[in-house]
Amino acid sequence: MSFVERLVCSRCGTKYEPGENPVMCRKRDLGRLDVVYDYDGISNRFDRRRLESRKSRDIWRYEELLPVSSGFAVRLGEGGTPLVHARRLGEKLGMKRLHLKDDTRNPTASFKDRAMAVGSAKAIELKKKDVATASSGNAAASLAAYSAGGAMSCHAFVPPEASAGKIAQLLLYGASITRCAQVKKGEDATVKAMLDAVDRFGYYPCPSFGPFNPYQVEGPKTIVYELFEQGALEGLDAILVPTGSGCLLTGIWKGLRDLKELDLIGDYPGIVAVQPAGNQALVRAIRKRATFDRIVPESYPASVAGGLLDPYPWDGDAAMTGVRETRGGGVSVSDRDILRSVRELAAYEGIFAEPSGAAGLAGLEKSLSEGTIGRDDAVVVLVTGSGLKEPDRIIEMFEGKNVGGAKKPNRNRP
Ligand SMILES: Cc1ncc(COP(=O)(O)O)c(C=O)c1O
Ligand SMILES: [Zn+2]
Repeated sequence: MSFVERLVCSRCGTKYEPGENPVMCRKRDLGRLDVVYDYDGISNRFDRRRLESRKSRDIWRYEELLPVSSGFAVRLGEGGTPLVHARRLGEKLGMKRLHLKDDTRNPTASFKDRAMAVGSAKAIELKKKDVATASSGNAAASLAAYSAGGAMSCHAFVPPEASAGKIAQLLLYGASITRCAQVKKGEDATVKAMLDAVDRFGYYPCPSFGPFNPYQVEGPKTIVYELFEQGALEGLDAILVPTGSGCLLTGIWKGLRDLKELDLIGDYPGIVAVQPAGNQALVRAIRKRATFDRIVPESYPASVAGGLLDPYPWDGDAAMTGVRETRGGGVSVSDRDILRSVRELAAYEGIFAEPSGAAGLAGLEKSLSEGTIGRDDAVVVLVTGSGLKEPDRIIEMFEGKNVGGAKKPNRNRP
């Protein structure tokens, strides 16, 4: 049973019936088709007691708040990840109430499985045979896995710096890989190539950017529902989110809003966007209190955090609303800070993260030093991708080469 009432374009307000199964606004205005749910219908099925009695541990546990039926889903065990009380790291930072949401523990080792499980289920419902994505690697690797399970061909458009671990996943899952040019003057060649292929060959677009697929945005909301069930939302002050395109952050915001609509939570925790210093168009806009339409893409993004290099925050509109409405914020972190966080997660808590996945911790440490988060605050840091994706980066850290600044400079930089 579906509780989707309609989809509404975030730019022009055009409404779509769920049965139209829209993917992009017909005006092609880069609006995201936000999914609107029938909360009245959901509310008498979705409360703590009823949730507790459910058996499934994956994201489909929360099916009422997802835009596609689990009957179409390839189920690899996405979601249901642990919330770790970071005692040793907390002690080091002087914090008693620090938790890490360990989303490295997903089937393809990043949080993107939550998004791609939903996006691919929609493609299967629509009987698509070919799906396309533009991605630095994690979303593509994930879509490739779900495509394999759903007997679809996955066409991945990736940047030249995509890591070996992510490329290996793509190869083994049987995706066709097109290596595109590096970002130049703010233009993302992977997105352009994906859209060309969608237009020319009729592929179903499924990148983890809202304007090009509205269904997958809903998957990462399940992080919030899990935090609710794990008891982490009560009295929570802040949630730190590694951010590239802003799609994950948009999901976190939508999840919080869903729970508020259902009367299941009180105050929102502040959502804090964390971006690398070498690619921070969204954080800059948040800090300047600029409006979304004033955001200009980062011309030559460069960072050790390869998953956070989208030059343009495609979902920045909703992300900025989420940050504002929750009285959160934005911080940028250096590559040195990010690599230190990779080490700290492993050394203090046994969590093996890739740089993009560890950036949230770097954001926490920066926020503590800026005084925007207090040491007595209750905080959740999202850890979003596994270090096994980028082993060479980690070996490099220990061999002493490039420690603290291992970024490959953007080759297009003039
Ligand atoms: C490990 C990891 N964390 C965080 C993100 C950021 O997600 P978003 O682009 O939705 O902001 C990505 C994106 O690729 C990622 O790979
Ligand atoms: Zn529109």
